[in-house]
Amino acid sequence: MTAASAMPAVSAHDLSVHGLSYAVRGKMLVDDVSFDVPAGTLTALIGPNGAGKSTLLRLMNGALASNGEGAAVMLGGRDLLRLSRRERAKTVALVEQQSTIEFAVTVREAVALGRIPFRRWWAGAGDDRVIDDALRLAGAGAWADRQVATLSGGERQRVTLARALAQQPRLLLLDEPTNHLDIAAQLDLFALLRDLIDRTHLTVVVALHDLSAALNDSDYVVVLSGGRVVASGVTPDAVDADLIRRVYGVEAAFVADPGSGRPVVIFRRLGDVGD
Ligand SMILES: Nc1ncnc2c1ncn2[C@@H]1O[C@H](COP(=O)(O)OP(=O)(O)OP(=O)(O)O)[C@@H](O)[C@H]1O
Ligand SMILES: [Mg+2]
Repeated sequence: MTAASAMPAVSAHDLSVHGLSYAVRGKMLVDDVSFDVPAGTLTALIGPNGAGKSTLLRLMNGALASNGEGAAVMLGGRDLLRLSRRERAKTVALVEQQSTIEFAVTVREAVALGRIPFRRWWAGAGDDRVIDDALRLAGAGAWADRQVATLSGGERQRVTLARALAQQPRLLLLDEPTNHLDIAAQLDLFALLRDLIDRTHLTVVVALHDLSAALNDSDYVVVLSGGRVVASGVTPDAVDADLIRRVYGVEAAFVADPGSGRPVVIFRRLGDVGD
């Protein structure tokens, strides 16, 4: 990691992940992961298959309990890991890599599940408005009355996002959210995230395999390999060809996007001769 890509100093209001670890039968899947990023930014979490990205995101939202002492996920001065389940669900939402949405309900009912942590006996129209907004923002409004089971993979992905938005989280964790999305929907997703960040100061961490998207759409990058943070820093400075060779075992060339000037990455197998 180069000095130029060092992470910024952060304040008590920012996201500070500290000492997250997870072992299965003595093997460290996530090994003492720490990083700090300012609130109201988008961080791309990158790394090869099996690097520990999904496990780290589950540790961050408390779905898995970190091994060892001193683990913390600080946001806005509070440790998310020490909140009650209900308070945590109002603060952090995770859109998992595999859709976890129920099949035998309508889209609207599935998204309404995101409101459960907020439910009070006097709850009423306020929840309906939040659910409508979440459906609209995720581009899922047209299917509100359909059964989830009848949706395509990409449509289901948007419903999962809508359910997360209905939680009105301060921290949104997305695990390869573009997987099932067509190209327009991928662009829409990053535009939506940027809009939410601008309007609500949301903090977003996204696990991604698309390095060009990571370099174009994130503010910070955290690179995982073998459960450890091997690089982190400001986008795009934190990622270079040497890092990609070490972490992914492929050659990478960067070309500038004619529109934004930001880098697009082209890959070759190690040892392949270019023209
Ligand atoms: N419960 C478990 N028992 C044993 N191994 C596990 C368990 N959960 C995860 N792993 C292993 O831990 C490693 C990290 O898994 P994880 O799903 O976090 O990787 P990832 O970076 O999200 O990968 P991908 O890019 O393929 O989604 C993998 O090698 C996986 O097989
Ligand atoms: Mg994963």
